[in-house]
Amino acid sequence: MNVGYMTGFGNEFATEAVAGALPVGRNSPQKVAHGLYAEQLSGTAFTAPRGENRRSWLYRLRPAGVHGEFAPFLQPRFHNDFGDGPVTPERLRWSPLPLPQAPTDFIEGLYTMAGNGSAAAQHGVGIHLYAANVSMHGRYFYDADAELLIVPQQGRLRIATELGVLDVEPQQVAVLPRGVRFRVDLLDGASRGYVCENFGALLRLPDLGPIGANGLANPRDFETPVAAYEDLEGEFELVAKFQGHLWRAPIGHSPLDVAGWHGNYAPYRYDLRRFNTIGSISFDHPDPSIFTVLTSPSDTHGTANLDFVIFPPRWLVAQDTFRPPWFHRNIASEFMGLVHGVYDAKAEGFAPGGASLHNCMSGHGPDAATFEKASNADLSKPDVIADTLAFMFETRAVIRPVAQALEAKHRQRDYPQCWAGLKKNFRG
Ligand SMILES: [Fe+2]
Repeated sequence: MNVGYMTGFGNEFATEAVAGALPVGRNSPQKVAHGLYAEQLSGTAFTAPRGENRRSWLYRLRPAGVHGEFAPFLQPRFHNDFGDGPVTPERLRWSPLPLPQAPTDFIEGLYTMAGNGSAAAQHGVGIHLYAANVSMHGRYFYDADAELLIVPQQGRLRIATELGVLDVEPQQVAVLPRGVRFRVDLLDGASRGYVCENFGALLRLPDLGPIGANGLANPRDFETPVAAYEDLEGEFELVAKFQGHLWRAPIGHSPLDVAGWHGNYAPYRYDLRRFNTIGSISFDHPDPSIFTVLTSPSDTHGTANLDFVIFPPRWLVAQDTFRPPWFHRNIASEFMGLVHGVYDAKAEGFAPGGASLHNCMSGHGPDAATFEKASNADLSKPDVIADTLAFMFETRAVIRPVAQALEAKHRQRDYPQCWAGLKKNFRG
């Protein structure tokens, strides 16, 4: 399959892998060129305001409805059962999810950590890890419940979708719209990363306010694949995630058979190293919302269902300032991951591939070692936070860890002790 990209965020794209596949001047002519079928894929309500409306027209070898009947697919580690009983306010942290020993593809390797809301309610998020060691063979997947934000931590992924091929490596992310069918190939063998299912409004770029017309993630750095298709027949499997559970149906051909498409509902990738990072050049530092890459707004104005926030390399120059992230309690809840390097608020224990969860109003911040060091640092020199990439899935609702994550061997049960060394320095 051909690999290539078109730039822009939410643009009206048009691309064809077969010359003449796209009709001119209409979406569904009586006969489509080359004997293709026309099919619309809508990602927002038909009546959504024009600026938010997302849909694409796909011209394909067979319509998406051509497959066998669905039956349950058991993969109990991947689910949306976030529970409604008591949830601990404890600060939680995990070592990296162990890589599998037995052959495990991307779908089999998904492992649910936490979440809130539900697919049925169309708000909230599911937060998962993946650890896989083989490509998806003869298996294709779509998620009817959510838009998928994939954050690789180890190993490059080739994500072949209906609308084209996305290659993503650590420090890049991929966003796959709800419903788009895809297969994940591992380009480097054993691979690991994070997946956020967004049940709510589609991710979009944040408004910039006084920052102006440029900055943070710039639209031109988002890349959507050009059309690419497979003309493959065989005994394949289509796996669907539908209302929190997986289903499988036999399919006699590759569903990645779109010879051309146009529209604004499409997968994309973004290289987090292109993020234009903004910070203080006087004192204090801005709230972490300054690091927002993408946001899914909620029904409450100014409040996000999901913010995807990164902590990229940056210079810290603020004077008379405690330079690492400060101690805090927020109404929002924060799930953090580390793609690469060291996170500047923790001296140790937060490894690449690891994760932490700080829920609504649970006190957290730098550990004792970081506090000591930063409180006595020489501020006449800048601190260069180089070669690092941490991120946060931040949500307005409490993030509920699931049982397997709480009970996991790789949960660091002593994590809250990292603040125990913060002694009283008060001298009345
Ligand atoms: Fe925090």
